[in-house]
Amino acid sequence: MHEKLIILDFGSQTTQLIGRRIRELNTYCEILPYNKFPHDATDVKGVILSGSPYSVYDAAAFKADLSAIRGKYPVLGICYGAQYLAYSSGGSVEPADSREYGRAHLSYIDTDEPLLKGILSGSQVWMSHGDTITVLPKSFRIIASTDDVKAAAYRIDGEQTFGVQFHPEVFHTTDGMQLLDSFLDICGFQKNWTPASFIESTVAELKEKLKDDKVILALSGGVDSSVTAVLLNKAIGKNLTCIFVDHGLLRKNEFEDVLRDYEHLGLNVKGINAKAKFYGELAGVKDPEQKRKIIGKGFIDVFDEEAHKLKDIKWLGQGTIYPDVIESLSITGTVIKSHHNVGGLPEKMNLKLVEPLRLLFKDEVRRVGRELGMMSNLIKRHPFPGPGLGIRILGDITPEKVRVLQEADHIYMSLMREWGLYDSIWQAGAILLPVQSVGVMGDERTYENTIALRAVTSTDAMTADWAQLPYDFLAKVSNEIINKVKGVNRVVYDISSKPPSTIEWE
Ligand code: XMP
Repeated sequence: MHEKLIILDFGSQTTQLIGRRIRELNTYCEILPYNKFPHDATDVKGVILSGSPYSVYDAAAFKADLSAIRGKYPVLGICYGAQYLAYSSGGSVEPADSREYGRAHLSYIDTDEPLLKGILSGSQVWMSHGDTITVLPKSFRIIASTDDVKAAAYRIDGEQTFGVQFHPEVFHTTDGMQLLDSFLDICGFQKNWTPASFIESTVAELKEKLKDDKVILALSGGVDSSVTAVLLNKAIGKNLTCIFVDHGLLRKNEFEDVLRDYEHLGLNVKGINAKAKFYGELAGVKDPEQKRKIIGKGFIDVFDEEAHKLKDIKWLGQGTIYPDVIESLSITGTVIKSHHNVGGLPEKMNLKLVEPLRLLFKDEVRRVGRELGMMSNLIKRHPFPGPGLGIRILGDITPEKVRVLQEADHIYMSLMREWGLYDSIWQAGAILLPVQSVGVMGDERTYENTIALRAVTSTDAMTADWAQLPYDFLAKVSNEIINKVKGVNRVVYDISSKPPSTIEWE
């Protein structure tokens, strides 16, 4: 087992960000609900208490029993975490005035304090809580202040326990990474958690767990399932069978291109053309959720049929990643849309699940993929929904509409690559609207379809901003689509962020 840091989640929006920062410092960490500290853990070397949407004095506030943690491990309380440590030891926490939100600067720093090593007076920090600690319990000693917040950081004498009122994990806290790094030093971490070490330990664990068992895995062309396949392949080779289904709703040429990439990677992969089945079942269906259901079920049918042709399969491989795991563990998270395309598979097929990426964030999956020597077109590929173009053709789906959208999308994505914009965008694609409008081509009046272009920036798809693509680029894409794609006479750009919109239109 790898040495690890535990982050106890009190419900803050930045808890995942703390986790990512710790991982960026080459240290393995796990995020657990505030009341689920693993008391039997032997490999824990430090604990962080996260922020929270609550105030410590709220009746509904999350309260954890810290007796098994404090004094046993180095502890860093962040924001609510710091307030909770103080409050639960008899200190006072009170509502503060709004000046204490946002940007602030440390005006006093205890320069002998290892936690604050290398941080200079004047360093910018980010505050985001309506409360402040007004009275510190005995043995709590202030180690940094801002003009407005005296207890901006404290430590408890006689323990390796610290609290910071500001958020070291956010970008606006200039020396935040330095502070987290110093905390890891105080915990005694070796900081050797890297993609290479992850691959080595995961492949060894997979060999041990799977032995000579056979595994089946559905590939989607996306990063997560592809990296999962390569890792499994490294561990068990030909005992892994991959299935890649063409439901007829993939991007132009994607089935052939991706299949070729998979074969180059040495994967044992079977491509299945099931277009006709999906088009048939989807004919005339307009409702988005119904389309999702039909595509999801169709996928399971095809996959199940293929799996039955193979003998003695015991495991189903899945590309589940850490944000999904955290979401399913979370006590506070609200799930707006859930996208479990193959949710029913393990039960239906009576298979055990193997999910080698379940502890990785998306950017870590990409780094692991790079370390595994995978082609950058597989690793850098934008997320693409399981139901594919099926939820980007608003209303009912026909093969002709798929053709129109594939052509438009292909122009958009090819130009995005050509202009060097692809890698700075989280996800982009074209949407075919069920809207016709009047246009003029030559001397002819036209009455044709509208294509909407979507491009967003994001880190996890939970929130997203519309991307401010250059006007020249949009002009070029619009021209090319209208000139080259028969059936389209208008192109619009979607300028909605998530929330309140979503990334996909359906
Ligand atoms: P939304 O539209 O909810 O999308 O903002 C968030 C992310 O999820 C993807 N998405 C899906 N993925 N099956 C999937 O596998 C689905 O039904 C589905 N719906 C949305 C979307 O592309 C984005 O990355």
